Amino acid sequence: MSRSRRVAEVASGVVRQPDRRCCAPKRLAFRPRMLIAAVLIALGLSGCGKPSAADRYVRPETVLDFATLFGQHCSACHGMDGQFGPAPPLNDPMFLDLIPKQQLVAVIAQGAERTPMPAFAISHGGKLTDEQINSLADGIRGQWRKSRGKTQTAMPVETWPDYTVTEADPAGIADGNLTNGRVVFEAACQRCHGANGREADGQSSADGGILGHAFGELVSDQFLRRIVITGRPDLDMPSYIDSGTQSLLDRPLTNTEIVDVVAYMRDEQRHKD
Ligand code: HEC
Ligand code: HEC
Repeated sequence: MSRSRRVAEVASGVVRQPDRRCCAPKRLAFRPRMLIAAVLIALGLSGCGKPSAADRYVRPETVLDFATLFGQHCSACHGMDGQFGPAPPLNDPMFLDLIPKQQLVAVIAQGAERTPMPAFAISHGGKLTDEQINSLADGIRGQWRKSRGKTQTAMPVETWPDYTVTEADPAGIADGNLTNGRVVFEAACQRCHGANGREADGQSSADGGILGHAFGELVSDQFLRRIVITGRPDLDMPSYIDSGTQSLLDRPLTNTEIVDVVAYMRDEQRHKD
């Protein structure tokens, strides 16, 4: 038989290749085992086979990946990449240089009282383990504190005001001078926020804006202090350095001015609609 004829016969199925034929019984021999495998897989899928079901299910408390944890628990309020959310930006190198790590951990664990920031630690009624909270704090600092050098050039980090004044009075408003606070507001804030706190970048809001009762009810003293210090770089609100130097003061706000302006805002929020 010529080679080409044999190829044609094989192709048309007239003659089966010898090696194929010899495989047929072998394949049959495998079938029972495949059946067993199929039954095992089916049992696994139906949840009866304990080992494979357990392997597939990832227990929520074992998730330690920063991106996953942040996406599941934080991004709805703080923004997809830690910016542009309704809650303060966490992707802000100046903020991350300002807040000590243990305080970052404490806020995540305990939340911020009387604000929408929930407590996440299991010990505080939340769902996250201490290890997960630590992973979040490390991830936030590791990923978003990068441009550290850049924030330090305007003024060395050692000269910055502290994140917290005292634990009992985080923004130091008990020491605040309301009259001076108003002077600071007029000098450094009014050009963007308007005399009554209702305007930012020329946009007026129907309620009292940042000096109004509605806004004040949602935020802590600590938040106000932090925003005056860091600004909101994601929304073009300047830091205490730029809001001061770009005003008639022509220099960064001092520690006392920061305390005074926060005290003034709080007082206005208490009295305004
Ligand atoms: C329901 C909305 C919401 C969720 C969800 C949320 N936060 Fe917050 N978070 C806020 C608000 C609002 C504030 C400001 C609170 C205040 O006024 O002090 C805040 C404040 C913070 C602060 C302090 C910021 C500062 O300026 O001092 C940190 C840190 C923080 N959140 C981290 C997280 C992390 C991490 C998660 C996820 C595990 C998370 N948050 C989930 C709303 C939320
Ligand atoms: C160059 C313009 C500009 C200056 C100056 C400025 N801000 Fe703002 N500020 C903004 C913008 C823009 C926003 C974001 C929009 C908003 O919330 O109104 C903002 C937001 C805020 C918020 C709300 C932050 C939030 O997360 O909701 C507070 C509080 C605030 N500013 C306080 C101040 C104080 C106090 C000063 C003066 C020390 C000041 N700002 C100076 C532009 C400015």
